[in-house]
Amino acid sequence: MRATSQAQPNIALVKYWGKRDAVSNLPAAGSLSLTLDSLWTRMSVKFDESGNADALLVNGEEAPAMLPRVSRCLDDIVGVKRPCAMVSSECNFPIAAGLASSASSFAALVVAASHAFGLESETLEMARSAGRASGSAARSLYAGIVELQLADDAIAVASIAAPRDWPLTVTVAITEKSAKKIGSGPAMNISQQTSPFYKEWISRQAQDLANARAAVESRDFAALAAVTEHNCLKMHSVMWSSRPSLVYWNSATLTCLETVRRLQADGVPAFFTIDAGPQVKIISEPAAAEDVGAALRSTNGVVDVMQSPLGDGARLLGGK
Ligand code: DP6
Repeated sequence: MRATSQAQPNIALVKYWGKRDAVSNLPAAGSLSLTLDSLWTRMSVKFDESGNADALLVNGEEAPAMLPRVSRCLDDIVGVKRPCAMVSSECNFPIAAGLASSASSFAALVVAASHAFGLESETLEMARSAGRASGSAARSLYAGIVELQLADDAIAVASIAAPRDWPLTVTVAITEKSAKKIGSGPAMNISQQTSPFYKEWISRQAQDLANARAAVESRDFAALAAVTEHNCLKMHSVMWSSRPSLVYWNSATLTCLETVRRLQADGVPAFFTIDAGPQVKIISEPAAAEDVGAALRSTNGVVDVMQSPLGDGARLLGGK
C-alpha cells in the first residue's frame, strides 16, 4: 500500500492556455512540450486503512492549501471509497513559480498512488488522470518531446522524440523564487472569459502544433524556434489583454529576452519560452549550453540558472 515515484516538469513549446471543459479539465487545444531531466519531484504515497484524513507534506512541511487538489486526484485514481493517504513530496526547484511544479507533482502522484493501490494502469490512463488534476501534468508521464492531442472527449499523449533522438538543453533563468499570485487554472479561465484575443489564439493552435511537430520530425531547430517564440508571445498577449490583466513578467524577464536576442545575433542556436511566471526558459543545442548559461548568469536580475537535458517520463522508484 506504499509507493514512491519520480517525475520531472515539462516545458511547453506550443502552450496550453484555455479549457474546453472546466469540470473534466479538458484543454481547449493540443500542446507540445519537452520533459526535463535534472529538475524533479519525488512523491511517496502510503494508503492507511486506519487513517481518518489525508495528509500532505511538501518538502517536509504540511501543505493544507494544496491538500484538497491532491485528495481529489486520489479519488479520481482510486475511487472515493478509499483508505486515507499519507502523501509526501520533495521538489528540487522552486514551487508554484512558473516552473511547472504542478506538472511534475501530479504526474508523480498518479504513478505513486496507482502503484500503491495495486492498479496496473496503462501510461495513457495515468496521463489522463494527471491531466484532470492539472492539464500540463499529462505530458510529464512521457519522455523527451511530447505531443498532447485533443480527441473528441479525451486527450491522447505520446512521446514524438526520445531524449537521445534529438538532444536539447533547457536553461532556466530564474528571476524570482516566490510563488506567483494567481495560478494557471484560474488565470486561464479569466483569459477565456475576457481576452478579445482568446478565440483567435485557440483557432490557430492546430496550425502551430502541426508546424512544431513537422520541425521535430525534420529536426529543424530554426523552425522549432520560430513557432515556439511566436506561440509564447501570443499566449502572453492573451494574458496581457485579459481583464484583470495577467502580467507574469518582471523587468528581468525582458532583460533575459534581450540576452537571447543577442545570443541569436551572435549565431548561437537558442530560443526562449515563458510560462505563467517570470522565469525564462532557453532551449539550445547542447554544444551551446555553456554559452547560454554564462550569458544568462550575467544578465541583470537573474537570481539563479538551472540547466537540464531532456529526460524520461514519470516512473516508479520503489514500493510494494
Ligand atoms: C502556461 O497545467 O498548470 O504552463 O490544468 O489548470 O492545472 P491546470 O493548468 P496548468 O497550466 C499550464 C499553463 C502553462 C502552459 C503549458 O504548460 O502548456
